[in-house]
Amino acid sequence: MKKNTPLPPLGAAEQQRYIGAIRAENDRIFEASGRRPGAFVQTFGCQQNEADSEKFAGMCEEMGYAIVEDPAEADFIVVNTCAIREHAEKRTLSIVGQYKHLKEKNPALVIAVCGCMMAQEHRQNDIKFRYPYVDFVMGPSSLHRLPQLLVQKRKTGKRIYCPEEAEYTVVEDLPIRRESSYRAWVSVMYGCNNFCSYCIVPYVRGRERSREKDKIIAEVRDLVEKGYKDITLLGQNVNSYAKDRAEGYDFADLLSELDAIEGDFVLRFMTSHPKDASRKLIDVMASSKHIAHQFHLPMQSGSDRILSLMNRRYDTQKYLGIVDYMKEKMPDVTITSDIIVGFPGETEEDFEGTMQMLSRVRFDMLYSFIYSPRKGTPAAEMEQVPREVTAVRFDRLLALQKEIGQERNDALVGKTLRVLCDGVSKGNDTLYSGRTEGNKIAFFEGDEKDVGTFVNVTVERADAFALWGKKQ
Ligand code: SAH
Ligand code: SF4
Ligand code: F3S
Repeated sequence: MKKNTPLPPLGAAEQQRYIGAIRAENDRIFEASGRRPGAFVQTFGCQQNEADSEKFAGMCEEMGYAIVEDPAEADFIVVNTCAIREHAEKRTLSIVGQYKHLKEKNPALVIAVCGCMMAQEHRQNDIKFRYPYVDFVMGPSSLHRLPQLLVQKRKTGKRIYCPEEAEYTVVEDLPIRRESSYRAWVSVMYGCNNFCSYCIVPYVRGRERSREKDKIIAEVRDLVEKGYKDITLLGQNVNSYAKDRAEGYDFADLLSELDAIEGDFVLRFMTSHPKDASRKLIDVMASSKHIAHQFHLPMQSGSDRILSLMNRRYDTQKYLGIVDYMKEKMPDVTITSDIIVGFPGETEEDFEGTMQMLSRVRFDMLYSFIYSPRKGTPAAEMEQVPREVTAVRFDRLLALQKEIGQERNDALVGKTLRVLCDGVSKGNDTLYSGRTEGNKIAFFEGDEKDVGTFVNVTVERADAFALWGKKQ
């Protein structure tokens, strides 16, 4: 395969042929040895990548692999990478580095590096020159080509650098091996058109494309019938849903239709972009049966000057307008956000603006990041803020948010909340943990039979990040 020649679409029939070819081979191995070849899928990055990895695992299963939890037991390793910050990329490369010795032990091992990092030419080149034992690489838009590339690799023995797709499409009906039997992701759209000046996502995930609403509704209905309790609709900017389809139908309409599905489940969505978060959407949430009163609304900065340099296309006034409307319509709403500290040119005054917005909005939780320059994005060319300055601002931001988070969670003490139980808590195995409707972690004395079900928990104490209570 020649690099840079875009790939024509891959039809469902062809896809099945490739899956069948690998399956026949793996079945033969199983019959001869009594052991199914293992596949290990490793995921970095956001929920989109987690959802994609469930498709990688689903395809591996259909190809006759047993999904394994230990890379040392694998005959096929798929690393699903993230490019959002430098730290994520470095960590991934170091883990890919560790797989060298597995390949030395088992030369038949096939290693594929996929996901957002691999949609960047310089990262493909890193793999090409520094990790010669990696068999093939491909970006996130080519995920459905996993079986095809595996067949090609086996046939030719040559390394493959999968080129970009000729066109970005929505590929339906891929097998999905879901990690959980009660929480599920459902992608509603792929890609992003926003080009925030710091962000790599539009370059690696391509333009926005939405799934057909009937496919989404059928998937959610099927999940509810199977007993799923917590369903999250995914997209980089869910509020843009269906804008590419010109049907006069929007994300709020989709939510209304999904909310009408009968059953005992909670519906969430992420991520919303403040420029498109409409009153209609909030009204649908407020009057819904199933939609969690929880809103993740990335603010990024509390300075209008920085928001404009970030190309976010809203200002703090607009942001506050959405927040105030949300609080008015849903007084119990949980609001979380993303903040970038140290965006190029951020002054002390700009940063103070962010601190003031924290005090004004009073977020339940924040995901805060130190700005990381991404090659090829406009902000990477702007004048950078020194590390020492960002580090101090970052700590100040965390300290303020800790106070606010504590206050927000203290307000829940004495209240009884519905919690979806996840199982024994990892940190303290005498307690069970779960998530509230607002997606807060709650610990309580539970029971094995609570796992995957809703329990009512009366909150007794809280810190800034979690709640502790008694099951009713
Ligand atoms: N589509 C979502 C966010 C996707 S990325 C949205 O628009 O809100 C998740 C978060 O990572 C972003 O909200 C941003 O806060 C952070 N982020 C993205 N690029 C970054 C960069 N170059 N450096 C630091 N943080 C970044
Ligand atoms: Fe990145 Fe902005 Fe798109 Fe979010 S909306 S993925 S931050 S470009
Ligand atoms: Fe990372 Fe790609 Fe998600 S860059 S944050 S895995 S869209």
